[in-house]
Amino acid sequence: MNPPRHYLQFKDFTREEYQHVFDRTRWIKDKFKRYEPYHPLFDRTLVMIFEKASTRTRLSFEAGMQQLGGSAIYLNTRDSQLGRGEPVEDAAQVISRMSDVVMIRTFEQDIIERFAANSRVPVINGLTNEYHPCQILADIYTFIEHRGSIQGKTVAWIGDSNNMCNTWLQAAELLDFNVHVSTPPGYEVEPERAGLYGTGHFEQFADPMDACKGADLVTTDVWTSMGFEAENDERMKDFADWCVDAEMMAAARQHAVFMHCLPAHRGEEVTAEVIDGVQSVVWDEAENRLHAQKALMEYLVLGKVED
Ligand code: CP
Ligand code: NVA
Repeated sequence: MNPPRHYLQFKDFTREEYQHVFDRTRWIKDKFKRYEPYHPLFDRTLVMIFEKASTRTRLSFEAGMQQLGGSAIYLNTRDSQLGRGEPVEDAAQVISRMSDVVMIRTFEQDIIERFAANSRVPVINGLTNEYHPCQILADIYTFIEHRGSIQGKTVAWIGDSNNMCNTWLQAAELLDFNVHVSTPPGYEVEPERAGLYGTGHFEQFADPMDACKGADLVTTDVWTSMGFEAENDERMKDFADWCVDAEMMAAARQHAVFMHCLPAHRGEEVTAEVIDGVQSVVWDEAENRLHAQKALMEYLVLGKVED
């Protein structure tokens, strides 16, 4: 049996594979909008394991699998043996004998890597402390829908150098665009943790206004990610000047779009004026999780499907 392909971080796919997945996303989305059934994963089962909360990830994977003709099973740490110390390697052996694809949202990347190493079926990262590749897949697809190719463009990342930031940085190296990062002091990008090759596709700026200058896309995320709640009070103070506002959007290009993976905190990392304003594409971004992940599951389970 050939080892399965996994999607554990953005750089697990080549640029050509992304082109295929984006083409399939468009095709699957168009078909869905025309109410035409498409059931390539009939009789297949997705297992979703959540060790952290979720609205969009659960909904988009569960609805997506059903729309592709398969079924989805939800497990969480609280009411499965995972929460009672069953080794992740054992869980992977068992779960992957009863399913066709697994999605996991967990803490350290090491956990999902260990699961994947013991899985007979493809494993998808639904968010770890280090990465959130499914979100960036949908975000880049959304950018392409609104503005065309992202190659050569500039993304301004304002705020925490978290799982979203790391994944944008990996994507920039792979798909050849630039990221301007501005974080408060002490929260700078750690290139090794981000899994970068060091191809010079990002630049750090002390002032978020400078990072926004010339950007085609301005994006941010919560100041405190899941799993880091103990740091919340300190972060509220440290990040106070890293709120994306109208002034920052005005420093970006005239046609810049604003993105946020959601959930958002208006008045913290972004003003209501920006996230609810005309440049914001956050609802398309959220919807595209559904379409992009359907294309992703199709690719991982069936390989390259052509129209
Ligand atoms: N953006 C995102 O992953 O949302 P959820 O935490 O609701 O899944
Ligand atoms: N960085 C956030 C993203 C939530 C979708 C977190 O990890 O909590």
